[in-house]
Amino acid sequence: MTTALRFPDGFRWGTATAAYQIEGAASEDGRTPSIWDTFSRLPGKVRNGDTGDVAADHYHRMSEDVALMKDLGVTDYRFSVAWPRVQPTGRGPALQKGLDFYRRLADELRNAGIRPVATLYHWDLPQELEDQGGWPRRETAERFAQYAALVADGLGDRVATWTTLNEPWCTAFLGYASGVHAPGRTEPAAALRAAHHLNLAHGLAVDALRAALPRGSEVSLTLNLHAVRALTESAADRDAARRVDALGNRIFLDPVFHGRLPEDLVADTAGLTDWSFVRDGDLAATSRPVDSLGINYYSPTVVAAGRHEGPSPWPGAEPHVRFEPAPGPRTAMDWPVDANGLHELLTRLRDELPGVPLVITENGAAYDDYADPEGDVHDPERVAYLRQHLTAVHRAVAEGADVRGYFLWSLLDNFEWAYGYGKRFGIVHVDFASQRRTPKDSARWYAGVIARNGLAD
Ligand code: FCB
Repeated sequence: MTTALRFPDGFRWGTATAAYQIEGAASEDGRTPSIWDTFSRLPGKVRNGDTGDVAADHYHRMSEDVALMKDLGVTDYRFSVAWPRVQPTGRGPALQKGLDFYRRLADELRNAGIRPVATLYHWDLPQELEDQGGWPRRETAERFAQYAALVADGLGDRVATWTTLNEPWCTAFLGYASGVHAPGRTEPAAALRAAHHLNLAHGLAVDALRAALPRGSEVSLTLNLHAVRALTESAADRDAARRVDALGNRIFLDPVFHGRLPEDLVADTAGLTDWSFVRDGDLAATSRPVDSLGINYYSPTVVAAGRHEGPSPWPGAEPHVRFEPAPGPRTAMDWPVDANGLHELLTRLRDELPGVPLVITENGAAYDDYADPEGDVHDPERVAYLRQHLTAVHRAVAEGADVRGYFLWSLLDNFEWAYGYGKRFGIVHVDFASQRRTPKDSARWYAGVIARNGLAD
């Protein structure tokens, strides 16, 4: 078999997970509840009443999970640190037992030849901080920077690659506007405040990390940028796309990379807020230089002029924007499969952020996988999805996008937020009753991609 599409030498091949989705051990070693522990207990918020109490029991099976990755041959592993494990109340000193878990994980990875990549915030805010106001409150950003410093002090000798926030769009708008994620608030103006305070949290944390980490460490941010398309070329449809681009993409890209707020965003949201919570100096604080940008991509977003009915994660856009189903096949999430969206994003960022290396920090798909009587898990749709998306990445690289790595979401089947355990994104199947792990066909396929640094014919 020849390698038809080879990636650049040194390309990083990883898998990704997040603490609340896999760890379990929700009340062990001093961990206190996060907003997801609270939210998942509210009736009707998570399918089937699932919680992350046990999840994939990774807290107790960490060595086995690292061994699985060693077998795959991954070069990198992206995990997140649970804030309530390390600093249970969101203030004060670090809890050593919490840090120790991640120190052991980093050691185990390094012994397996795998580079640890740590995300500081993948949605598990200590409940106490939410009780004091959560992300709409400015102080949460300051607390986050202190937490970042504690984690960097504890792990900086072992972890050289850091991400501040995962998908602040979801935190702000699913958490505080549509309320489908924790903490489940439906306050559009508060969601805009949250978005700003997340940008601020990121910038303050970049400074805190740089101060605490050894020289040469890398600091990044992961955004779930929206590949927005207007349904038609009409001015009204294009204006709908502009609004979603402002609220979905530029609300983060502009403060973080250009130290400004998008003017059209401020105008579009004038009915909700005057943005006076953005203080002098904030936009300098949000735009501290980073070493790369992480992008999570799953599917494109198609919009047209119209009205959005029902709870919305798009504050102020509801009377102007309707979301259209994108054509094509769908995953078990009912998300359309369209790798061109990833290519569009990468080439856009190549043009708009020259000099900023890009890393795909999540990409993957859920399908209704099951172990057959022989114990095998055949997942040809996932292999096809991954192949299409890696082909799109390769095309963008050939066209000059500076993409340094790809992290497959996810290593393991896990707690898929409001969908619970029903949606399986893993390349390793988890039988949640026995916690038995079974690599799916896609895991073997991905191991082959990594081994040849590219896609075969
Ligand atoms: C992303 C999240 C990740 C996972 C995937 C499917 O938005 O960052 O935790 O749930 O979606």
